[in-house]
Amino acid sequence: MSLLTIAIHPDPVLRKVAKPVAPEDIEGLRPLLDDMAETMHAAPGVGLAGPQVSVSKRLIVVDVGEPIMMSQDDVPSETPRTSRLYHLINPVIRDRDGTLEWEEGCLSLPELLVPMERSARVTVEALNADGDPITLHGEGLLAIVLQHEIDHLDGKLILDHVGRIKRNLYIDRLKKSRRA
Ligand code: NI
Repeated sequence: MSLLTIAIHPDPVLRKVAKPVAPEDIEGLRPLLDDMAETMHAAPGVGLAGPQVSVSKRLIVVDVGEPIMMSQDDVPSETPRTSRLYHLINPVIRDRDGTLEWEEGCLSLPELLVPMERSARVTVEALNADGDPITLHGEGLLAIVLQHEIDHLDGKLILDHVGRIKRNLYIDRLKKSRRA
């Protein structure tokens, strides 16, 4: 496995509508999905979409895990989490319900947090890495991450929900930090 380079805004790949994966191509995707999961975990992040690693295909990896309770005198520098990893190919939101507000970040938009309103619960249909159809019911953080990553497949970013002035300030700051 290897770490992939994460595309950073304004990389145009982030704005392309990703192409559906053809059934005959699923078998060959396993190494890419493994690399995407490793890249997401290393970042660390809770979700990663194909376009974020410059692959304009409809695939995402998601792992919101479960926090492990630690005793108070044994607080680690990074809180370990159990892993609950999903590989989702051609994911589609079939049902949604409720609303939830959350401040979201994105690995392609360093140091930006955007308050977002999302559905509180979503039902997602997809194929898994074996090409089998699966239905995933997400709520809370899992619901948010699923919506965020599926947005990536349609070229949508949380930056689109930031007002023009704040957006321009952020883009200037991003340019400067990339030059430095
Ligand atoms: Ni993102």
